[in-house]
Amino acid sequence: MNQDAAIKPNFIRHGLFRLRQSIGRRLEAMKASENPVLRVTGMFMYALWQLGGDSLRWLVSSEFRSIRQLATNSRTDLHQVANFTKMDRYPLLFNACRMYHINKPALRLLSFGCSTGEEVLTLGQYFPQAQIVGVDINPWNIKTAQQRCDQPRMSIYHTDDPAWQMQDGYDAIFCLAVLQRTENRTQNPQSSGEIYPFSRFDHQLTQLDSYLKQEGLMTLDEADYRFEDATVAEHYQPLAWDKPVLKNRDMFDASNQKLSEQQLIHRIYIKKGEMKKGPLSC
Ligand SMILES: C[S@@+](CC[C@H](N)C(=O)[O-])C[C@H]1O[C@@H](n2cnc3c(N)ncnc32)[C@H](O)[C@@H]1O
Repeated sequence: MNQDAAIKPNFIRHGLFRLRQSIGRRLEAMKASENPVLRVTGMFMYALWQLGGDSLRWLVSSEFRSIRQLATNSRTDLHQVANFTKMDRYPLLFNACRMYHINKPALRLLSFGCSTGEEVLTLGQYFPQAQIVGVDINPWNIKTAQQRCDQPRMSIYHTDDPAWQMQDGYDAIFCLAVLQRTENRTQNPQSSGEIYPFSRFDHQLTQLDSYLKQEGLMTLDEADYRFEDATVAEHYQPLAWDKPVLKNRDMFDASNQKLSEQQLIHRIYIKKGEMKKGPLSC
């Protein structure tokens, strides 16, 4: 496969994404201005930008349409609908997992919520011998990922296709920027119960846990909830050399309430079988 072909379109998408973000932020700053003229102009331009931009994107982008269609879907297993991704997005995590699995060449890895395949391709570079499975819920992402990950050791499935649910297990599962909803950060809710309830997060982790081997790694980042609150967390412990990070984002507890403090969280956990309930330690 031509790796450049997989990476090149990403520059365009990435650039457009950043441009949209930067214009949106400027208009939001105008809306919050103390100068009433600037504020009203900002509100007007923001509404125009949202409406015009969305209509234009709906007309020209099948990707945008696919995301909007997904967002109006009432599936109870739907997590993040935005599909932003890029190559090598989490180098520290990928490196830590590679170190853990260093002497095991015949690995089987799962990228759950693989979007358009960049994570699968990245894992392919970190783990040159591994079989890698990518799963996503958005058919547009699946089609794109299948074209990009056209290698015998990579397979891409829709989440409804049971073929990805390997009964003999994965050595590592990557669930990155999936178990969350953008609205929980943009709408500043005190409870996430209406937007993205804890039960959905918990249920997904229980399912993923059933496909992870003993001593396998569960890698979770950019989530609305803490792994420690999940039902399966009691038989996991953090990977010792995955340094905890201070999360500068809103997170919620198991009763869907916003946590008041920033959270220091681990992102890679080892599945250890049944352990006594209690605080997790390295
Ligand atoms: C922001 S992308 C994350 C991509 C990649 N993991 C990364 O971090 O760069 C979130 C992805 O999760 C997918 N997703 C949401 N709910 C899902 C589900 N139930 N099963 C599989 N994928 C899901 C979305 O379609 C989207 O592509």
